[in-house]
Amino acid sequence: MFFDFFKKKEPQTNHTQERCVEAYDDIASVATFFKNETGVTFDKQTSILKNKLVTFCKQRDICSFGKLLEKVSFDKTLKQELIDALTTNETFFYREFKQIEEIVTLVKNSGARAEILCAPCATGEEPYSIAIALLEAGVAPSRFHITGIDINQDAINKAKEARYKERNIRNLSAAVLQRYFRQEDSVYALHESVKSQVSLKVLNLFDPSFKSIGKFDFILSRNMLIYFDKETKLKAKEILESLRKNANQAIFFGHADLF
Ligand SMILES: C[S@@+](CC[C@H](N)C(=O)[O-])C[C@H]1O[C@@H](n2cnc3c(N)ncnc32)[C@H](O)[C@@H]1O
Repeated sequence: MFFDFFKKKEPQTNHTQERCVEAYDDIASVATFFKNETGVTFDKQTSILKNKLVTFCKQRDICSFGKLLEKVSFDKTLKQELIDALTTNETFFYREFKQIEEIVTLVKNSGARAEILCAPCATGEEPYSIAIALLEAGVAPSRFHITGIDINQDAINKAKEARYKERNIRNLSAAVLQRYFRQEDSVYALHESVKSQVSLKVLNLFDPSFKSIGKFDFILSRNMLIYFDKETKLKAKEILESLRKNANQAIFFGHADLF
């Protein structure tokens, strides 16, 4: 009895193991959650969504889609990881270059400083393309600034690093590569002179805080609306239009972003 008093106490453990039956069936509930959060719809691609989600859950010992939804309701990190896993960030330098040329002409002709928004910017190739094209056209760095936003944290981190592989810079000429990148083996690292022209933020277009981002002379929103249904496209268009300095200036959408 006396010695029992000096014995170390066992840590209090909860021996009632959480019971969780593996259930990866209710794909619709996750698709609905994701659409409400991001606007992205997986309408005809539920099998792609299911494969991605099952892998996502198994990697994190989450045994059902129900549990996943429960966890993301209070775990912001997990929610961001889910958004990063399910959004598609395909992009490259000088994509749909005609529009970029159009913006360069508009900026040159305006004679004033231009604030430009790229929503979304994915891994940065689009805002950096505009910066390079403006610098190439002889527009002074003090005459423009570009803001890039994207819902995907991982993509924004990569945009801030600005280190690109061959396939992302495939449209750039040798002269442009030479002027604005430092080649390190198979990686092309963008010069600070271009990076400093661009500010990058993780933002959801549908978040109420998005509208306080400011007003812009030129707005690009390319290849995001393709993931939205018609109603969501119109909602996105309305939000973007509210950020224009000049209500007559059209928004630059991608050619596939049909309404
Ligand atoms: C295919 S990329 C387009 C990138 C670039 N604009 C281009 O055309 O090359 C689509 C991007 O939209 C982003 N996205 C999807 N829903 C979004 C939302 N609600 N708010 C902000 N970005 C979103 C994704 O994370 C993804 O990086």
